[in-house]
Amino acid sequence: MKLLVIGSGGREHAIAKTLKQSPSVSAVYCAKGNPRMKQDGIITVNLSETDGKAIVEFAQANQIDWVFVGPEIPLFYGVSDALEQAGIPVFSPSQAAAKLEYSKDFAKQIMQKYGVPTAKSATFTDFEQAKAYVLEQGAPIVIKADGLAAGKGVVVAMSEAEAISALEMMLVDELYVNQDDQARVVIEEFLEGEEFSLFSFVNGDKAWFAGISQDHKRAYDGDQGPNTGGMGAYSPVPQFGQDVIDEAMKIVVQPTIEGLVKEGTPYKGVLYAGLMMTKDGIKVIEFNARFGDPETQVVLQRFESDFAQHISDILNGKEPQIKWKTHGITLGVVVAAEGYPAKAESGFDLGELSVPADSSLQLFGAGITKQGDKFIANGGRLFLVSATADNVKQAQQQVYAYLTDNPIPHTFYRKDIGFRAEK
Ligand code: AMP
Ligand code: GLY
Repeated sequence: MKLLVIGSGGREHAIAKTLKQSPSVSAVYCAKGNPRMKQDGIITVNLSETDGKAIVEFAQANQIDWVFVGPEIPLFYGVSDALEQAGIPVFSPSQAAAKLEYSKDFAKQIMQKYGVPTAKSATFTDFEQAKAYVLEQGAPIVIKADGLAAGKGVVVAMSEAEAISALEMMLVDELYVNQDDQARVVIEEFLEGEEFSLFSFVNGDKAWFAGISQDHKRAYDGDQGPNTGGMGAYSPVPQFGQDVIDEAMKIVVQPTIEGLVKEGTPYKGVLYAGLMMTKDGIKVIEFNARFGDPETQVVLQRFESDFAQHISDILNGKEPQIKWKTHGITLGVVVAAEGYPAKAESGFDLGELSVPADSSLQLFGAGITKQGDKFIANGGRLFLVSATADNVKQAQQQVYAYLTDNPIPHTFYRKDIGFRAEK
């Protein structure tokens, strides 16, 4: 098979690399990809990830068997729909089904209608009404922009003043894009508990568990500092075992995808459920219409069976025979440019970005370019290094030993990835 992955980050590097490991796969193309992928035999293609027409033309010209879309932006712009219309199989949701991610209001409506546990919420387009609701409910309270906001659309407000300034930004200044061009916010009850990410392969009303992980969204150790795209992850998550996975599949994933079928927008692809274990049980914090980054870089290493074959099987209406590694843990740490997430430094030398072949270490590129033999910083999150070991402590030791031995000026990373699982 010849496959095409859309995207350019660490997540897409991991997806493309794992697909390439399948004996049934002869070539993996990635658009645009990043220069670190070449070392893993992935062919990068210079196409815009939102240009459905160009992606269709490339897929036709290169006899691509199926396409996997990594990030959410192409889904919002209908890249899956363009491929479907051209008769090219794609394992990613349509623009209508991806609304589960890019419209918080749509996701809330589905969850309310189909009885999926989530925080109590209300939706507003009018600033004064939203402000009155915040004053009535009090803080802490959570304000979410209804639209694509590049990870910046959620404000967990600890005071009413902070909540109102978020409303001004989202409803008055209208900083976010959505489909109908109407600024809208979801105001949500503040929940407390430990978060985790649960992935499923979905095809219509059928879902298969596709991995569990825990991300670390704050920039600095001890969950301090600004929210980021994610600074590190590990899989599996010892504190959330098979019972929690089974419960989440039953009370969250299954009713949601059955609801989408009933609404006439069936889901196909990877569904990301961002969940919180509260004192009242599992609640949905958010849905994403794709795999997570950096969770994917560790989750895909947990498959014992053939990831590419699973997707082929699902696309062909067959039951995937998924097998997981039963021993050990994979943990990954993101190395970011100084200044990330506000304003990341760029243009500096990252060296060769290599890890020893005789170790469990893996390296996935993200915000990088190449000049000669050297990789150069060109983004916020630059790369991720992972290790697989018997337990979290040993995986941490391996990753941190590598990062300590290979220091890179102008970069930083969290030193505590996996701390919740250490106990
Ligand atoms: P999101 O962009 O939806 O992932 O939200 C970013 C982060 O905000 C989440 O990972 C949570 O830590 C936090 N968050 C979102 N919704 C809530 C909520 N209802 N209660 C408490 N924290 C929340
Ligand atoms: N790691 C969080 C996300 O991919 O949205």
